[in-house]
Amino acid sequence: MPDQQLYDRIGRDYASIRKADRRWAAAILSAVGNATTVLNVGAGAGSYEPTDRPVIALDPSATMLRQRARNAAPAMAAAAEAIPCHDGAFDCTTAILTIHHWTNWRAGLAEVKRVTRRRIVVLTADVFRDDEPFWLKEYFPGINAWDRAHIQPIDDVLQELWPARVERLPVPADCTDGFCGAYWRRPAAYLRPEVRNGISGFSQIGDRETEQGLSRLQADLDSGVWNERYGGLLDRDEIDIGYGW
Ligand SMILES: C[S@@+](CC[C@H](N)C(=O)[O-])C[C@H]1O[C@@H](n2cnc3c(N)ncnc32)[C@H](O)[C@@H]1O
Repeated sequence: MPDQQLYDRIGRDYASIRKADRRWAAAILSAVGNATTVLNVGAGAGSYEPTDRPVIALDPSATMLRQRARNAAPAMAAAAEAIPCHDGAFDCTTAILTIHHWTNWRAGLAEVKRVTRRRIVVLTADVFRDDEPFWLKEYFPGINAWDRAHIQPIDDVLQELWPARVERLPVPADCTDGFCGAYWRRPAAYLRPEVRNGISGFSQIGDRETEQGLSRLQADLDSGVWNERYGGLLDRDEIDIGYGW
């Protein structure tokens, strides 16, 4: 069961490590299209909100809302499962990297559908594809297990939102938004505690697994084993590891 208070505990330094990536921002803006009003559900510190039209943000975490910039869109302290807005209040609703944290994601999407007139953009991760598994999960299998237990299969999300389409969102090698897959070409970054603090997956595994995974990663980086296995990634500028909408 997702933990409603998780971001009140782990989100304190979120805005400093999770800076909106400009390529993702452009892609999200294009998905929002010409919507004149936008609700951003699970908005957190305000990444990826359009700044050229009326936006309302919504998030249950006071810790996250406190980190919104002073000129950010107005925000409501509320959860997706009970959106305090009238039917059809917004042209478009965005939900960026958030639905896997909702207590009841189906109820949340039903609420999103109720308040949205035209378009819903749900950015999530397809953790069930295995054509290019993300190497980090080999070092921290508990993150993989948590993701598979809590991140909704794309087909289930599509079913709730039908008619809908899926678009893949590659992760740039120098991605500035420090989510779990952001450092795929910068493996040493995961050794830094402030980087791990910005990734909810690390809060879902125990200290022991974290320590073991970090020691293995450090040893493999020092010995060249990581490079032997995954060095091919160093020639790539972006990678598709399942993010998209
Ligand atoms: C990984 S953060 C993403 C924040 C922001 N969308 C971004 O891209 O930076 C996940 C957010 O989901 C929020 N959240 C958790 N449970 C929620 C719920 N039931 N309804 C709406 N948002 C929720 C958390 O408080 C947190 O701010």
